[in-house]
Amino acid sequence: MKAVLAYSGGLDTSVCVKLLQEKYGCEVITVTVDVGLDQEELHEVEEKARSLGVVEHYTIDAREEFARDYIFRAIKANANYEGYPLSTALARPLIAEKVVEIAKREGAEALAHGATGKGNDQFRFEAVFRTLAPEKRIIAPIREFNLTRKESISYAKKHGIAIPVDVDKPYSIDENLWGRSIEGGALEDPSFIPPEEIYEWTKLRRHEPELVDVEFAQGTPVKLNGKALPPVELIMEANRLAGEHGVGRIDMIEDRILGLKARENYECPAAALLITAHKALESLVLTRRELAFKAQVEAKWSELVYFGLWNEPLRLALDAFIEATQERVSGKVKVKMHNGSCAVVARESENALYSLEAVSFDDKSIDQRSVEGMLRYHSLQAEMYWRLPRE
Ligand code: ARG
Repeated sequence: MKAVLAYSGGLDTSVCVKLLQEKYGCEVITVTVDVGLDQEELHEVEEKARSLGVVEHYTIDAREEFARDYIFRAIKANANYEGYPLSTALARPLIAEKVVEIAKREGAEALAHGATGKGNDQFRFEAVFRTLAPEKRIIAPIREFNLTRKESISYAKKHGIAIPVDVDKPYSIDENLWGRSIEGGALEDPSFIPPEEIYEWTKLRRHEPELVDVEFAQGTPVKLNGKALPPVELIMEANRLAGEHGVGRIDMIEDRILGLKARENYECPAAALLITAHKALESLVLTRRELAFKAQVEAKWSELVYFGLWNEPLRLALDAFIEATQERVSGKVKVKMHNGSCAVVARESENALYSLEAVSFDDKSIDQRSVEGMLRYHSLQAEMYWRLPRE
């Protein structure tokens, strides 16, 4: 049986290659989907896959697609699940889709992933596998063998698999263009203070405050500091700029799909910068009713994506609503970054629903007396309520 495995080169997926060969009798094809990985590491990942005896390996550059069709949608949706801007969650459906494509091309019978039975990623991979290739068998070796991280490490050692982690630093790290997540090991204790060494993207390198200009066209970021950049470069540059100020570091308790509460650490500098700026622009150009309704749509969108239901028709319908609101979301926002904080200090748009004359205390274009009629009935129902006979 041929199995196509979503392969990152990390501990779990490397162990999966061997388990698939040994315990399931599979010929393994590995697929590494580049959603913003270190370009040099990609070669090492491929070499590692080949050294494990895979029959074929694919590296797929999906950065552009990830940026345009996933990250830009997340920005328009101000994506956020309980304080997490959905980095890993956002990339899983795309990775799963590429795995299915390769499986179809290779005529493989099985689709495999290295997620454990405790986390969210199994739901995300399998939801896509089932929607796009219901006829294929799904194999999840780590979950099916009920392996602990320690057991995976010793299995890897026994099989001569080079591993990037060790028992004293057993972090599980996932990275893509939109963020980096670090979990496991000592971090699992919510009362444990994370050591500085777990962070890579948000090391404080600049100590002076810095202003960044972010320009949007119809909800999509198009320029940073006046410079037009294509999607992938723009996101990388935003990560660099904000990361140097320590912006986008998150330490939180998260409710996983299963219901487990988990301690999660993230670095999402670009997400922190771009979503902060995007929200500020929306608050200038959308009506209060659009904003209030959109906030509910955003929460639902984020929950669906967190839950791996990217292919749920409701997600598509919510995206259609979000897209309709973005037509006017064009303009510029200035964000000040300093010591981990990122705050909007100025915003402008041709579509602003803002009138300096109308709101100014020094102007007469709104005749204050004309508001009297509105005031008279503003609290009508409350007045009636307070006039009801009482004991
Ligand atoms: N808790 C995050 C999520 O569910 C991150 C998961 C990270 N996955 C990993 N294999 N390290 O999206």
